[in-house]
Amino acid sequence: MLKRVLSGMQPTGRLHLGHYLGVLKNYVKLQSEYDCYFMAANWHSLTAFYTNYKEAHQYISPLISDWLAAGLDPEKSTIFVQSDVPFHTELSLLLSMYTPVSWLERNPTYKEKQENIDKDIDSYGFLGYPVLQAADIFLYKGELVPIGEDQLPHLELSREIARRFNHINKLEGKNAIIEPKPLLSENPKVSGTDGRKMSKSYGNTLSLSEDENDLRDKMKKMKTDTGRVKRTDVGNPDNCPVFTYYNYFLPARKMEIDSQCRSAGIGCIDCKNIISDQIVKETEPFRESRKKNIENPDLIKSILEAGAKKARKTAGETIANLKDSIGMNSDYRILI
Ligand code: TRP
Ligand code: SF4
Repeated sequence: MLKRVLSGMQPTGRLHLGHYLGVLKNYVKLQSEYDCYFMAANWHSLTAFYTNYKEAHQYISPLISDWLAAGLDPEKSTIFVQSDVPFHTELSLLLSMYTPVSWLERNPTYKEKQENIDKDIDSYGFLGYPVLQAADIFLYKGELVPIGEDQLPHLELSREIARRFNHINKLEGKNAIIEPKPLLSENPKVSGTDGRKMSKSYGNTLSLSEDENDLRDKMKKMKTDTGRVKRTDVGNPDNCPVFTYYNYFLPARKMEIDSQCRSAGIGCIDCKNIISDQIVKETEPFRESRKKNIENPDLIKSILEAGAKKARKTAGETIANLKDSIGMNSDYRILI
């Protein structure tokens, strides 16, 4: 049997190049090697969007549209929405009984958000975010979890929860939960247009379905080697965020651009135009997919319905086993 892969993304905004290069490309590669389950983690998005959940909900279809454009194939992978499979909330509650609060309080993501005063997320649900994430993985017996580096602490917590649960409960003498392992992608840190890590909260993203003109505009304004002021100055590609995109999108011309930059043989405008053309070309399927799915919204609807049906079957079996392993089953004969 193929190993299972489970991963999810929160529908909280448009996917950008960072998501694509960091995680999504990895999803696409994995779907030919493993039995993959990919999920829109909309319960998770409720932690930050609890006052305006409707907005987050509207990001589900664009998320799926981008996944399909990237090459996820519903014939190969099970693609679904978390809240369409009620077992996620059920297992999350079950696991919460095996998760000490102190483990959750020392989770770096939780501490970070608590210190970030402009976001008011102080809920019980947010504290339990990693427990829900563990439930997501365990329900599908996910052995491998493709994620970005920022998610490593959550995965470590999942492993700890699995160990604790397995230590206390056994299923026919065996571990009831498989300890998942992370699968980190090769290019986890993608630069944004200001040179910092690409992130929605910095407002420095290039979204995958970005309008072509907006994309070119943003690239024009993108930060370059700050030491290179005039066209005649020589540049240093090692200090230039634009150059990092050559790695991802045009590796064949890297060497040439490198030496041209160092000898002031090429100007930044031309250098950006070359890479912008390539990014526009590579992101064309994302714009097309949006258009296609706006014209025919039933395409995504039917993919998600079929995905949820399959996911419910897999997850339903697991939750029944896990409840059984703690002795919560339908055997109500009086024994005492
Ligand atoms: N927390 C993840 C993120 O924000 C999303 C997520 C939810 C997830 N459930 C998951 C990732 C299970 C991997 C496995 O990116
Ligand atoms: Fe960066 Fe290209 Fe300008 Fe060199 S020429 S500084 S690599 S944008």
